[in-house]
Amino acid sequence: MKKTLLLVVAILAGTSAFAQKKPMNEFIDELMAKMTLEEKIGQLNLLPGNDITTGAVINSPLAQLTEEGKLGAILNVKGQDKVKELQRIAVKKSRLGIPLLVGQDVIHGYQTVFPIPLAQACSWDIKAIENGARIAAKEATAQGINWVYSPMVDIAIDPRWGRVAEGAGEDPYLGCCIGEAMVRGFQGNYGKENVMACVKHFALYGAAEAGRDYNTVDMSRVRMYNQYLAPYKAAAEAGAGSFMSSFNVVDGIPVTCNKWLLTDLLRKEWNYDGFVVTDYGSINEAVVHGIGDQSVTSERALKAGTDMDMCSNAFISQLEGLLKAGRISQADIDNACRRVLEAKYKLGLFEDPYRFCEPKRLETDIYNDEHRKAAREMAAKTFVLLKNEECRMKSEETSFGGRRESQWAAPVLPLKKQGKIALIGPLADNRSNMVGCWSTGDIPERYSTLKEAMERAVGDKAQVLFAQGCNIYADEKTQEGATFGRPIDRVDDAKARAEALRIAEEADVIVCAMGEMAEMSGESSSRADLSLPCVQKELLKDLVATGKPVVLLNFSGRPTVMSWEAENVPAILNVWFGGSETGDAICDVIFGEKSPSGHLTMTMPKALGQIPIYYNHLNTGRPVPEGAKEYRKFQSNYIDVRNDPLYPFGFGLSYTTFEYGKPRLSGTTMNVGGKLSLTVNVKNTGKYDADEVVQLYIRDLAASISRPVKELKGFERISLKAGESRDVTFDIDTDMLKFSNSDLQFVAEPGDFEVMVGGNSRDVQSLKFTLQ
Ligand code: BGC
Repeated sequence: MKKTLLLVVAILAGTSAFAQKKPMNEFIDELMAKMTLEEKIGQLNLLPGNDITTGAVINSPLAQLTEEGKLGAILNVKGQDKVKELQRIAVKKSRLGIPLLVGQDVIHGYQTVFPIPLAQACSWDIKAIENGARIAAKEATAQGINWVYSPMVDIAIDPRWGRVAEGAGEDPYLGCCIGEAMVRGFQGNYGKENVMACVKHFALYGAAEAGRDYNTVDMSRVRMYNQYLAPYKAAAEAGAGSFMSSFNVVDGIPVTCNKWLLTDLLRKEWNYDGFVVTDYGSINEAVVHGIGDQSVTSERALKAGTDMDMCSNAFISQLEGLLKAGRISQADIDNACRRVLEAKYKLGLFEDPYRFCEPKRLETDIYNDEHRKAAREMAAKTFVLLKNEECRMKSEETSFGGRRESQWAAPVLPLKKQGKIALIGPLADNRSNMVGCWSTGDIPERYSTLKEAMERAVGDKAQVLFAQGCNIYADEKTQEGATFGRPIDRVDDAKARAEALRIAEEADVIVCAMGEMAEMSGESSSRADLSLPCVQKELLKDLVATGKPVVLLNFSGRPTVMSWEAENVPAILNVWFGGSETGDAICDVIFGEKSPSGHLTMTMPKALGQIPIYYNHLNTGRPVPEGAKEYRKFQSNYIDVRNDPLYPFGFGLSYTTFEYGKPRLSGTTMNVGGKLSLTVNVKNTGKYDADEVVQLYIRDLAASISRPVKELKGFERISLKAGESRDVTFDIDTDMLKFSNSDLQFVAEPGDFEVMVGGNSRDVQSLKFTLQ
């Protein structure tokens, strides 16, 4: 009797708690047996609510489509109420009551915004990154979101590509560690505060030619396997619930329709069992790529292994006809539908469709003290100190004309809270740009500007003088183009500059907040010139010419070309985009409460023409040694610039100094399947307590294919008090020596290896061992 009653309730309420208690397969079999073809295709349809813009605006009657069972998921619908209402329609008004997936780009935090992913990677703090994803999930679920389009694990070696901001940088090993951590942080055990992750953009999107977004990708399988694919695979193995295919072509085929990638590699080789969604509108873009009309691209996409169509309205319009025409099979549709339903089951949506819509969580779970503290701590860990001049007691010709009289006897940073501090630059008093690109849950009004944070930090001990100094770009159109909803006031450059120079004259130290606006990196923000925009650089030159200590805080979503700055500006702290707590975090570091500890995860080029530049490159037959000072004829180098980067991968200074002892290996031979360990003593020899990132690199000296000059294989972020030292030990096993050979077999080949350890990829000590 009781059972019958429950069943009646279950049918009335659509699906129910009772139903989901069944094992997943059984539950989905029963559900699918009830579904019409139209309802199945509906599950494969994802459309936007346009409350945030992350692609072309597509207006669709979401409520109506949901009621008719023609929508499986939504994105960019903002606000718990709105989500709840659509969910209510799905559950109560659609025939079978199947709840919706609710997606959004939660890339680096939600309302508590964490630093952009590239910056987070520079912390090399995997636990903190995981925690950041956990917090983002908690805030997002409080808004009703249950699915996030993150992590982005595209390896990128071309900083012209704006989307380098969204990933972990150039290294596949670090990319794996971060990808896995984010999946864990987001998904947990699919509890009430967890979301489903979506690993993107599969695959190779970061290798877009010339760094131009959406552009062609073309590379050998060996390179793919050895340099690009590992982070996707690691994230899949970490259990990511979904994957997003990328916009680009691979082997000439738009990925959305690329069966080799989506089925042969992802599903068959890697045994991936989650679902695959397209990127925004990319079934339609495959038409533009030139492989056929929408019916062809829909057919190919589905057969290739695409399960859900994001914003193309292609599956919903084409699949029924394609099935009737015998171009696709019922099984093709059923497989895709099943995977989408599995995702909903895993999220617990059938059990409680409103589990992510609890009103009281809006009060407690968003932008709270715990989250803000974590974001502030994380931000401070991401800043990379590139230069901190020890002392200057000189009168000199400047490289840009004029004389400079300068004198100070200690490193410029940290600053003392005393005297007058001139804070200058277009990013010094701006609220909306601190968070960086892809901040879809931010509320800038709640955050501090750097100026406000600095005034708070110094209190009445020092005086902060402020001037904007210049625009981001002198050219209004270019600046407008880079805005995308995050404006910075236009000023009269000449007047603003005069005012900046006036306060600089009065000040004891000058802090420049310059660089990119948030939207100058991220999607569709490729740049062909990676230096500080001219108008900012001119002002910076004038400020340096005052001879006063100058600190450049470089805001950027990518490596910047800063050769002039590296030579002339006394102190440079790369602050990326640090999220909602940027202002306070910068003050924590520049006033010395915390020592900088970020280490670059993308190589900083000296000149644009060096791009692509990355540390784990192959050797040539005519290599020029690192550090070579002159051009060498008939060698692999440039006439006009040396090969070395401005700052290498893994680089980052501190307020303290670290001394590395002689590394010791536990042996000089290793059997296949065996182990060695390397130990090195690291000592904090300076006056500040600080963190160091100890890095381990390996090179295969002779193999069946040419192997990189070094590859990161381990790292540890350690905290050392002033004067403290510690042994750091890395295990080296056969798996770390494996690579994909020309037959794409993943093997470790016996022979000699070099193992290197140090605080960046350039300054290492090395030892050798033999694998036998
Ligand atoms: C981006 C994706 C994003 C999607 C949904 C696309 O334009 O490439 O990274 O997840 O939009 O907003």
